[in-house]
Amino acid sequence: MYFYKNQFLPKNDIHISPDDRGYYFGDGIYEVFRVYQGTLYEQEAHMQRLQRSASEVRIELPYSIDKIGEILTELIHKNALVEGTVYVQITRGEAPRAHPFPAQAEPVLLAYCTTVPRPVAAMQQGIQAITLADIRWLRCDLKTLNLLPNTMAKQAALDHGVQEVVLHRDGIVTECSASNIMMIKDNVLYTHPANHLILHGITRAVVLRLAQSLEINVKEQAFTTEQLLLADEAFITGTTVEITPILQIDGKPIANGSPGPLTQTLQREFERTFA
Ligand code: PDD
Repeated sequence: MYFYKNQFLPKNDIHISPDDRGYYFGDGIYEVFRVYQGTLYEQEAHMQRLQRSASEVRIELPYSIDKIGEILTELIHKNALVEGTVYVQITRGEAPRAHPFPAQAEPVLLAYCTTVPRPVAAMQQGIQAITLADIRWLRCDLKTLNLLPNTMAKQAALDHGVQEVVLHRDGIVTECSASNIMMIKDNVLYTHPANHLILHGITRAVVLRLAQSLEINVKEQAFTTEQLLLADEAFITGTTVEITPILQIDGKPIANGSPGPLTQTLQREFERTFA
């Protein structure tokens, strides 16, 4: 069962207008939630980010945040979802193609859930990555539908036979195709500051809180690709990847090329936030 416009209905009964500005302009915003034990993880943080993305791109949410929460919870129940994800997007609405925001259009909400499992193997075994120039715009803090640079980056990784890209601007590491990145050097955890150049990941925030509670020194400070290659540990964080170690970048191992001890401690602590 999906939710589209004002109702729950089977996917095949959804008829989307070609005039939806999501198609012409990628003119919309979205969120991806993890569902653990039938419950939305970090619901409030995701809702706050949805609200912020909407207001920054001047899309009026079609329902209150509370109502959206009710819709998503009902969606989980209707699909008897125990573990998976919930996707929700809101486009500016339907109007003949023209750049100005349409005066009349009503924002359109689409939501559905998946049974995509937790990436257990990757979390245990780690992944490999390549570095790639971050060619995105300067509002990467907004979760908008315009993901072509992200999909191109991800595909570049796959074309190179690895799983992920480490994006950088002039050598400064920002984030990955659909996750944030952190590194540990001399027992200090570094990650790019939450500014306009990265998505302010919900998982990132949870991990930073966990690190602080473990008395790991946290520095929200940018680092270069060279510094990353010399790190003791590196990992990515995100709703779909949770905490996944990066073992190799551009063919070079990070430290001894196996998941690091602080990464594993953070993984264990992270699991306790929903278990
Ligand atoms: N992506 N950075 C980018 C560019 C992302 O797209 C995401 C999430 C993250 C991690 O944010 P969070 O911890 O809040 O999931 C960082 C989602 C999962 C997606 O687009 O599928």
